[in-house]
Amino acid sequence: MTIIGILGAGQAGSTLARAAITLGHDIVIANSRRPETLKDLVGELGPRAHAASAAEAAAAAAADFAIIAFPYRPGDKLPVNELAGKVVLDNNNYMVWRDGNYPEVDAGLKTIHELRQEQLPTSKVAKALSHIQFHARLPIRVASDALPALVRLARPAHDPDRKALVVSSDHPEAVELATRIHDELGFDTVDNSPLSESWRSAPGTPMWSDSIDGQSREQLIRNLRRAERIVT
Ligand SMILES: NC(=O)c1ccc[n+]([C@@H]2O[C@H](COP(=O)([O-])OP(=O)(O)OC[C@H]3O[C@@H](n4cnc5c(N)ncnc54)[C@H](OP(=O)(O)O)[C@@H]3O)[C@@H](O)[C@H]2O)c1
Repeated sequence: MTIIGILGAGQAGSTLARAAITLGHDIVIANSRRPETLKDLVGELGPRAHAASAAEAAAAAAADFAIIAFPYRPGDKLPVNELAGKVVLDNNNYMVWRDGNYPEVDAGLKTIHELRQEQLPTSKVAKALSHIQFHARLPIRVASDALPALVRLARPAHDPDRKALVVSSDHPEAVELATRIHDELGFDTVDNSPLSESWRSAPGTPMWSDSIDGQSREQLIRNLRRAERIVT
């Protein structure tokens, strides 16, 4: 059993919390406001879930492990000290329509996850869990479409239909941890490190187009290789 600090309690954070609890882990979850605002969510998640401030959720993360499930914003005050030395899985995607433009990312000088690593200089940041959907498959045609892809696509190890998720990091321990978590959740892993390569799994790339119904390890590797960086 691990205690996982989950920072971000929206569609992604709450779905990850539910999945982690199903796997037998405890979670401490935070949003950008007060823990009281998460009363309904932790009530639904049950006794393995606790609401906290972002700093408390970061500090509570056992096994050096926290998940960030909210967009990158340069001005954010993140719990840098509480996350120092810890692995941080960041599932953010650079969505210009939502986040606006970051010129160094658009120019191909940095990836959005290198910027997150700069925001958390003493943590071991990995881009992970970023191209699996935390919502239903729309339109819902069969009952399983109503499940989030994280649940719908999960398969046991060695299942011929098992899909793969990508991880990128500058820290081997973070890749190792993401690989373990992916495996527990029912997915294989493709290592697309370092963080400077993480543009290959950004929205709009070939692997992204295949993310709704998932892709095998081999397909994912092929799609990552096919990606072309568009700079402006
Ligand atoms: N949804 C998906 O299917 C999906 C798939 C892949 C990747 N992602 C990525 O997952 C991230 C979250 O997406 P979402 O759909 O879950 O968004 P969302 O539903 O809008 O939830 C965002 C959550 O993050 C919290 N938050 C914002 N800033 C925070 C901070 N500084 N500290 C702690 N919590 C903070 C928000 O809290 P408040 O409510 O208090 O503001 C909210 O709980 C995004 O980066 C997205 O690109 C999402």
